[in-house]
Amino acid sequence: MEIKELTLENLDPENFIQEKSREISSAVGDGIAINALSGGVDSSAVTVLCHRALGDKLKTYFIDNGIMRDGEPERVVSLFSKMGIPVELVDARSEFFDALKGLTDPEEKREAITQTFYRKVFSRIVKESGARYLLHGTIYTDVEETIAGIKRQHNILEQLGIDTEKEFGYSVLEPLIQLRKPAVREIAKALGLPEEIYNRPPFPGPALVARVIGEVTPERIETVRKATVIVEEELSGKGAFQCMAVLHGNRVTGMRDGKRDYGLQIEVRCWDSTDATTAKPTRLPFEVLERLAERITNDVPGIVSVTYNITSKPPSTMEVV
Ligand code: XMP
Repeated sequence: MEIKELTLENLDPENFIQEKSREISSAVGDGIAINALSGGVDSSAVTVLCHRALGDKLKTYFIDNGIMRDGEPERVVSLFSKMGIPVELVDARSEFFDALKGLTDPEEKREAITQTFYRKVFSRIVKESGARYLLHGTIYTDVEETIAGIKRQHNILEQLGIDTEKEFGYSVLEPLIQLRKPAVREIAKALGLPEEIYNRPPFPGPALVARVIGEVTPERIETVRKATVIVEEELSGKGAFQCMAVLHGNRVTGMRDGKRDYGLQIEVRCWDSTDATTAKPTRLPFEVLERLAERITNDVPGIVSVTYNITSKPPSTMEVV
């Protein structure tokens, strides 16, 4: 891998911000750039960094792809608008669900998301806005995992030999590409982002699709979204690196009101990790697991079974897709 990592120990956040602002500003010149904000720490840091460097020449979009967590699009747009950064909400839900229709293979699902973002949605926004640059929150670990062939992260393009100018009609600038997550958090903090953003647990680019085994439909996303609300209410803020609900592919036999009920199964995952390259399942108290099972089977329609993952990464990965 040609990109040189900039470690947390060697990072001077103020210098980094100034240097990257200068680079972005000279690359974009008098032109216009766009960026997509998801509300995660990486894209939030890019948004504020580039807003500082480019001012009105940066146009920020939140792509509502239909696969985000409950209330996320509105929450993120409103938070940034309070910070004086206007964000345009783009409704692309049907494009993403159309692209995912019928797909069950994990890599095909990831590829469908990549193509919908970069070939369809961003190409259209770039044309409409007159921008030539897409500013992107790719970080060192995304490149590392993709190059290692573990998972194709949705935002990796150039490092896989994709010429974005030729393929999609715009250039991609990646100011955070030398940093791992802890260093990105330092930059986000130095940029004045609130703690709820700079300390936010990671969330994958393919969003809830990374947590659906089998076909992705609006109904199946709604199921995993509802379970995610419960899992995050019960497990967030207790020191775990990341927690998640996963929807399994097959129906399992359950029972309700004394009768057989073929239903769905949710798997809960909760990880202890420092940088996501390795991870261990959190040793949750059994009462917490029981409460999760009770709430998920009572409040998420169709669920008759809840399991807890007890495997480490490796050989597991953190997300299932
Ligand atoms: P895995 O599943 O590879 O996840 O063990 C490691 C960390 O990366 C996040 N993740 C992703 N983040 N695009 C992202 O931006 C992706 O395609 C992606 N896949 C996984 C995951 O949530 C975990 O923190």
